[in-house]
Amino acid sequence: MLESRKDQDYIELMQHVDESFRTHLKSFCEALVCQPERGELLSLLGNLSTQLHLHFELEERDGYLGEAVEIAPRFSVEADRLLQQHAVLSEEVTALMDRVRVDDESESWWSEFVPQAEMFVRKLIEHEKLENKLVQDAYEEDIGDKD
Ligand SMILES: [Fe+2]
Repeated sequence: MLESRKDQDYIELMQHVDESFRTHLKSFCEALVCQPERGELLSLLGNLSTQLHLHFELEERDGYLGEAVEIAPRFSVEADRLLQQHAVLSEEVTALMDRVRVDDESESWWSEFVPQAEMFVRKLIEHEKLENKLVQDAYEEDIGDKD
């Protein structure tokens, strides 16, 4: 197996970001069932957006998926696809914030906003699951090769 490039400081930072990211995602999901006022919703989304960018930045900077691809090159296409999703997910969280900022007092804005937000959350969770699976599969393959 390759030596990990991740030192202890990095691992601690990543764990902290992940924990914070999950906490903010959970708060945002909870808000979707109680319709908070817009300022609060925007603040929740702003926090989530900040954590999301930090999370993506760390994944990209350290080559989180790159390390897995070095071990198992057959995952390179999927890894590229997942990394490209970061930009799409970032745009989507910005679009949600813009949607909250728009001066729309109609009764329907909330009922239109919730499905859009839920779709984003589902995509984000799926993205994270696929990344984790890719890394896990690559390492398992590496361990299997050594048996
Ligand atoms: Fe990611």
